[in-house]
Amino acid sequence: MGLESPGMIVVIGAGTMGAGIAEIAARAGHDVHVVDADESALVRGSRTLGERLDGLVARGKLDEATRAGVSTRIRWTTDLEVAASAILVIEAIVEKPDVKRGLFAALGRIVRPDCLLASNTSSLSINALGTDIVGPERFLGLHFFNPVPAMKLVELVPASTSSLATIEAAGNLVRMWGKQPVTVRDVPGFIVNRVARPYYSEGFAALEEGVAPEVIDALLSGAGGFRMGPLALTDLIGQDVNYAVAVSVYQSYQGRTRFRPQPTQRALVEAGALGRKSGRGVYAGDAAPIVPPLLETGSSPRAIRVEPRPGVFAPLITAALAAGLSVIPDASLEPDMVLVDGVTIASGDRRRLCDRQDCDVLLDAARNLTTAKLLGITASSARAARTASGFLSAIGRGAFELPDRPGQLVLRTLAQLANAAADAAVEEVANADDIDTAMVLGANHPEGPLAWAGRTGKSRVAHALTAIAAATQDDIYSPSSWYREGS
Ligand code: NAI
Repeated sequence: MGLESPGMIVVIGAGTMGAGIAEIAARAGHDVHVVDADESALVRGSRTLGERLDGLVARGKLDEATRAGVSTRIRWTTDLEVAASAILVIEAIVEKPDVKRGLFAALGRIVRPDCLLASNTSSLSINALGTDIVGPERFLGLHFFNPVPAMKLVELVPASTSSLATIEAAGNLVRMWGKQPVTVRDVPGFIVNRVARPYYSEGFAALEEGVAPEVIDALLSGAGGFRMGPLALTDLIGQDVNYAVAVSVYQSYQGRTRFRPQPTQRALVEAGALGRKSGRGVYAGDAAPIVPPLLETGSSPRAIRVEPRPGVFAPLITAALAAGLSVIPDASLEPDMVLVDGVTIASGDRRRLCDRQDCDVLLDAARNLTTAKLLGITASSARAARTASGFLSAIGRGAFELPDRPGQLVLRTLAQLANAAADAAVEEVANADDIDTAMVLGANHPEGPLAWAGRTGKSRVAHALTAIAAATQDDIYSPSSWYREGS
């Protein structure tokens, strides 16, 4: 389709996404026309993009010549007829199916026969948008992420009518723009907006069970390895925007319980607590949450006893040796336990502390116990909590106390993300590697959820999910068949 040499690109919609797509296309050397039905949106879009480029130049991230080239290559117009000479038209207008469908029908009559037509929709069915297009073989979804210049992922969503040549040409083009396309089936939420749901819903679930928001966010970043905790992230995204995605995915999947929206988030939206943009959300004001005070620590232990073949706790034992503690092998201990001053600390697997007779403290999971600096614990008494936090403090880790909930916080969140990713793999939304790539590049997760499940062990994840489902009596946690097939 001759897309290798830059041709003219039309972007329809001069809003947040349209302006971002226009910028990256122009920076890749294309002439770009941005079309918007609203003159003032064109003025706003052009001004916002100009200010952004000026900022990049001022910070030394863009040279003057490139900035001038980008500005010259982008033209802003209300005239849809400019699409007649485009090689690709990307639609990024208001999320209304009838308006988008009408636009594509009109475009089909204007563009050249070999022009690709793409929608950037987040939540509408690609197949449903292409029903009235003349030449439906050249139509597909190209779902960019916000902010477009920074986010590397593009979900490439073929329509049932898309030709292989269209899919290939669109993939090559976005690769030339420095993006990573992943091919996704036309399902609600595609990969990222669907698989990421548990990150937010587990944050709100813990909040509903009385865990302080600062503790939730601190542990998901400090132990979970995420760049930002789930609640702070929803405040940044906007509670209304995030809740609308939750509702849309839930309704599109005919109310499948896995995607059930959280009542606490709905209450925030109804109260106008939309997050940073309204000055109040989960947190007051527009500042990032402050890390709360750590759990009070007891005295540092001089020695700890460990099972002779350390498993999950090996990084903590290495840290204990480095901190000068005596590490005494003790064959009477079960795997994944340490004994500190008469207090048995076990790795939280899935069971609640009250269902176990064999330990006094449960240590929540961390994505990487070697590097995690904050850890969650559930303790049977104040003394047990102080002893455990004294040990953790001696090896350079801070502790927060969690209530006795199945799967605690980090393990439950990671397992439920891996569950959603596995569902998507089983339902062939995309292949497993692409699901992981999408979550890393499109949601900024530190690791793909299926890669985490692979490292943790599929059967371990399956056991955790089964036990959480049983204890909570909530089938949103029942393991995907991906895990039931064994490890
Ligand atoms: P926006 O509201 O910032 O901009 C939409 C623009 O489209 C407005 O300037 C409006 O005047 C214009 N418009 C509306 N109807 C039009 C028509 N019939 N013809 C020409 N122009 C028209 O919206 P935003 O956030 O840029 O989103 C655009 C699309 O991108 C939506 O489909 C959305 O689902 C999708 N998207 C949004 C993301 C986000 O984070 N904002 C992320 C990924 C996709």
